[in-house]
Amino acid sequence: MMEPGPNIVLINGMLATRSLDPGVSIYGERLIGGYRLWSSKRSKLASAILKGLKLPIKKDSVVLYLGGSTGTTASHLSDILSEGLLYVVEFAKKPMKALLRVCEMRENMIPIFEDANHPERYRDIVGAVDMIYQDITQRNQAEILIKNADLFLKEEGWVLIAIKARSIDLSGSPADIFRSELEKLSERFTIRDTFDLSPGHRDHLMVLGSRRG
Ligand SMILES: C[S@@+](CC[C@H](N)C(=O)[O-])C[C@H]1O[C@@H](n2cnc3c(N)ncnc32)[C@H](O)[C@@H]1O
Repeated sequence: MMEPGPNIVLINGMLATRSLDPGVSIYGERLIGGYRLWSSKRSKLASAILKGLKLPIKKDSVVLYLGGSTGTTASHLSDILSEGLLYVVEFAKKPMKALLRVCEMRENMIPIFEDANHPERYRDIVGAVDMIYQDITQRNQAEILIKNADLFLKEEGWVLIAIKARSIDLSGSPADIFRSELEKLSERFTIRDTFDLSPGHRDHLMVLGSRRG
């Protein structure tokens, strides 16, 4: 496997990120040398990378993360963006508390306690971004991504979205739900790649897109 992205390595088949803060474990992950192991069981992004996703960002990129939760995956993106910036939006109080603790340890992480349905509310905080990563459990996942891309994504920017079929429709077949979400996304983005994240993350599809050019 070629290097899947900056500051990411494979150690015995497992992903690890070069730690911005060597020796410090953020959520109980194992440390090996200056690296933090990144389990694909705990992170859809890690799972997609193991399935072949090549992250379209550099060390100095600026990324907007929608649905940061407690900061598990966000902490690895923070390692990857060692010379860049990561804005993390989360709207639930409990995960936000944990996320704030992670952001306090990282100068390149900016937490935003807001609803990603209303990007205009954080317009004054977030600048132009190279990539939006979205992992949000909502019915209108595609709409949320489009609204945020309209405000923040650079012309040559990328979007990466983990679509959770069961958040959109409890009874429909995941294949039909993915098809319909991809149609919505295709109206605004060129779909570059898709990764089925099962069995580790059942009924999840990771979609990589770029602005329609
Ligand atoms: C599946 S979890 C994300 C897990 C995280 N990406 C990780 O890998 O560590 C989804 C998160 O999205 C948050 N969320 C859902 N809807 C949201 C919204 N409209 N605005 C901001 N956060 C939202 C939830 O509170 C939850 O923490």
